[in-house]
Amino acid sequence: YDFSENPIPHGTLNGVAVPFFATPEFRQELTEKFKLRPESDVFIVTYPKSGTTWMQNIVRTMLMSDDTPENAQLKLDDRVPYTDMSLNFPFDKIEGWPNPRAFKSHHATPSEMDKLIFKGDRSAKIIYVMRDPRDVSVSLYHHLKKTGLSKFVEEATFDEFHKQYMRNSDVVYYGLWEKHVDSWLSKRTEFNMLVIRYEDMIENSSREIEKVAKFLGAHLPSSRIEEIAELTSFSTVMHKGGLLKDESGVTNSILRKGVAGDWKNHFQDKEEAAKMAKIAEELYIKYNLITPNL
Ligand code: A3P
Repeated sequence: YDFSENPIPHGTLNGVAVPFFATPEFRQELTEKFKLRPESDVFIVTYPKSGTTWMQNIVRTMLMSDDTPENAQLKLDDRVPYTDMSLNFPFDKIEGWPNPRAFKSHHATPSEMDKLIFKGDRSAKIIYVMRDPRDVSVSLYHHLKKTGLSKFVEEATFDEFHKQYMRNSDVVYYGLWEKHVDSWLSKRTEFNMLVIRYEDMIENSSREIEKVAKFLGAHLPSSRIEEIAELTSFSTVMHKGGLLKDESGVTNSILRKGVAGDWKNHFQDKEEAAKMAKIAEELYIKYNLITPNL
């Protein structure tokens, strides 16, 4: 498979590939029009496929339960908008929203977010969600296959995809996984940042949701924490649609398996899997994160 002949459409930002809808014109518009509310805005930042939607759902359920009927009707990505995306970013609407507002982003580095959105004010809350890169690769493989945007991805085996796309810094969206994680975690004390791991959410979602609640200053009884865990669980969202709103198709394109460790069913190349585990473990050690069952 020659990737250059079958690229996934993308642009670049500071030498890192970004999706085609993340245009320079949009970034310019964002810089000019986005009015940060540093005291109350919440940013969910992730490397793609790391649990963004799950966290969007948690934050929305936690902070926006008294939403107006109009806002309550909005799809998840419209109520917790994607700041990297030019397609219908609701500049006008967000001005009128009450506090707190929440957004999602995949930006490769904090300095990009700083330039585009924070403009030097680092007090806004950031929830950085990270996930085992082997499962990220698997999730991305299936996600991109569903989009049908790339002949390469459609035809590639998982191992081919992993080596030629996920590990190719010239083409993978938002750069290599380890660079993303390292660039964000290295600044975690300079920004107002909480780091949450997907695997920890899988192990005990209530425990992690409680961390999120504390970070956001929401004083919630444990019964409400349990309720949020239930309302945002994979099975609730999968079967009832929940805030993802089934009819939008989001459930189908984002929710797949929702487990930790599906990489075991995908990597034929065990050496490559071990290499990824080592890359991840080095970062877990560097940033003092508890080593999960690798
Ligand atoms: P899989 O493809 O491994 O199933 P993102 O939202 O960052 O694009 O991440 C998508 C991944 O998160 C998908 O992983 C999806 O199934 C998983 N996910 C979304 N909501 C979830 C939930 N409530 N519980 C567990 N996993 C969830």
